[in-house]
Amino acid sequence: MTQDELKALVGQAALQYVVPGQIVGVGTGSTVNKFIDALATMRERIPGAVSSSVASTERMRALGITVFDANEVDELAVYIDGADEIDGKGFMIKGGGAALTREKIVAAQSARFVCIADESKQVAVLGRYPVPVEVIPMAARRVTRQFAAMGGTARLRMKDGQALVTDNGQHILDVSGLSITDPLQFETEVNQWPGVVTVGVFALQGAAVCLLGTASGVKTLTY
Ligand code: A5P
Repeated sequence: MTQDELKALVGQAALQYVVPGQIVGVGTGSTVNKFIDALATMRERIPGAVSSSVASTERMRALGITVFDANEVDELAVYIDGADEIDGKGFMIKGGGAALTREKIVAAQSARFVCIADESKQVAVLGRYPVPVEVIPMAARRVTRQFAAMGGTARLRMKDGQALVTDNGQHILDVSGLSITDPLQFETEVNQWPGVVTVGVFALQGAAVCLLGTASGVKTLTY
């Protein structure tokens, strides 16, 4: 199976976690796009979704799925999203699509995070994929130095020759060269640096379940 077919497989499998009659939290990315396409087939059975990005909002609205503002909803039963890496404890690196801040907000208001990923995302230790960090632009240089002191190399994410601007009007640093052996400690520490909006390690908001697309079908991993 191609990677695209594996993404479609887990996107479809995630429907079993959507609670009829309840609003669902929806992430961002190419795997989630497959889930959104599948979700459209049951749009009459849910009031709608809370979205983690402009891109997912637009895709859902185009398919007739109602999108609610996060502030209109208290707790969501489930949040469904992809990952750039996931380890054996359900801790993840996310933010390859630059949506990490809103993803973390919706994950935090959800009782259960269901990660959907193809098997290429499974790792023993987080960090081979550069960690996305959303920063307030004036802090970028100092935060870059703080990562250098940890052995990491931070690069400003660019788009069309300019610094990429997130849905929240901020910039992204992609930090390579880190081996994140203690994701909870790493997330807690970097969260406290002035100017860091969100670090793309999801340990405090880790996955409860991962639907992993493999050559032999969908594996359900629980943490
Ligand atoms: C978006 O900001 C990310 O957190 C995505 O969830 C992650 O990059 C996975 O994306 P794909 O499903 O496109 O690999």
